[in-house]
Amino acid sequence: MNKQVKIGEEIIDLREIDSTNNYAMRLINQGIASHGLIVKADYQTNGKGQHGNIWTSEQGKNLLLSVILDTQEFPLEDQFILNACFCNAVASLLMEHYEIKDVRIKWPNDVFVGNRKIAGLLMENVLRGSVWQYAIVGIGININQVQFPLLNRTTSLKLLLNKEQSLKQSERYLVKAMNANYAAFLKDPEGIFNEYQQMLIGYDEKISFKKKGEVFTASVVGVSKSGELQLLFDGSVKKFRHKEIELILD
Ligand code: BTN
Repeated sequence: MNKQVKIGEEIIDLREIDSTNNYAMRLINQGIASHGLIVKADYQTNGKGQHGNIWTSEQGKNLLLSVILDTQEFPLEDQFILNACFCNAVASLLMEHYEIKDVRIKWPNDVFVGNRKIAGLLMENVLRGSVWQYAIVGIGININQVQFPLLNRTTSLKLLLNKEQSLKQSERYLVKAMNANYAAFLKDPEGIFNEYQQMLIGYDEKISFKKKGEVFTASVVGVSKSGELQLLFDGSVKKFRHKEIELILD
């Protein structure tokens, strides 16, 4: 597999599919996946979110895509940093190309503007033994959808900028941002990880969390290499896995 190939040099453009992540997984299972390939769709009948949730999106309104990466040469411990790299890419797309302010990452995989979610990522890994063979990075970004019946606290580019956006243009910007961030990850994974941590909601500021029904205030000091959130409260740093705690937004 040629890893010099850039992300998005080849794009499979589907009108409708169950899930672009599933389609990418099928290519891998059939032995016909290639590094950097993007699978995108106008509509998903079974879009997948984190933790078994569904990801719904109106037909042709948003960016729904999955990137296949050849990860054979990476240590398994880099899984979370690679995930962080793509969160940064989505955040930088919004800040640099659309000049949106107040873009933050909600640990572990959500991209927010203010206190509203605009994008979510779902990374699925393919391991053979102890070799990390592939990563499928699924990305959903709300572009032109303005009504979100199932979810509140959601926004889109159109809602933020008061103007219909070109999906094609946002896809090009995203490809550019992914290539820039992936190149930075290859050169300096620590740098990418630091950037991710500093973008987190609650980084170096007090915010509220809920654990087993109990609310407490803490500040985010960072994330461990394996992706646990490190919170400072009661004078010491404690680590939490996803779903152990919930961030409370205003
Ligand atoms: C989340 O926030 O829960 C993650 C959402 C990830 C959605 C994207 S849309 C393209 C790709 N295909 C899927 O089935 N899911 C991801």
